[in-house]
Amino acid sequence: MRIDILTLFPQMFDGLLNCSIIARARERGLVDIRLHDIRAHTHDKHHVVDDYPYGGGAGMVLKPEPIFEAVEEIKEELGLSKVPTILLSPQGRLFNQNIARDLAGYEHIVIICGHYEGVDERVAEHLATDEISIGDYLLSGGEIAAMAVTDCVVRLLPGVLGSEASLVEESHIGGLLEYPQYTRPETYRGWATPSVLLSGDHGDVARWRRQQSLLRTAKRRPDLLGKAVLSTEDRKLLSEAFEIKS
Ligand code: 6GU
Repeated sequence: MRIDILTLFPQMFDGLLNCSIIARARERGLVDIRLHDIRAHTHDKHHVVDDYPYGGGAGMVLKPEPIFEAVEEIKEELGLSKVPTILLSPQGRLFNQNIARDLAGYEHIVIICGHYEGVDERVAEHLATDEISIGDYLLSGGEIAAMAVTDCVVRLLPGVLGSEASLVEESHIGGLLEYPQYTRPETYRGWATPSVLLSGDHGDVARWRRQQSLLRTAKRRPDLLGKAVLSTEDRKLLSEAFEIKS
């Protein structure tokens, strides 16, 4: 897969590109991530990328020309007339694992990082094919959102994660929250690992984990529990957990 990212701050992506899972995926040729400095697509002496908003008001707005020209150059290089082009902005639809899965299915995507007070609306209207936000809070720019989206997408690409098992286990994201995990030491500062995890009884372990997932989802994310499909056994585990714990 190839991901082209348009940004005013390419250096911000050094960490994302050169560490951990993404660095390894790039080295292995599983993903090709290219950064494009929006400022390099200006034609004036001072490389101006923003301007005052028509109608007045605070802040600056990103000009359309450098963004359109940067995306058009990428399309020409790819020999494509269309490419999925995502504008990152707080006005976008809310990002989630399903959107990540959809994006991971494309051969190429282009990501545009918004900045300042906004981006000229003609980018959203006539260039972007999608507008995405990563949550209901304000970032000072789209770069951190682009990193979040890129990370989510790249880890879904075939071969990127060591074991496919970790993906299967997580397939219930958007369904239920994960159960708690423990590793050595068995007791740390007097805090013991739940004994069921040391019992060696795989059935008991599986039941306990399912119950913990249900319980934390009920307590922390009732919105998710409302949408999840629960079996009769799940309902039993949940009511049992509530009798014990609360
Ligand atoms: Cl995509 N951009 C900005 N500036 N803030 C955000 C966001 C994006 N998603 C959540 N907050």
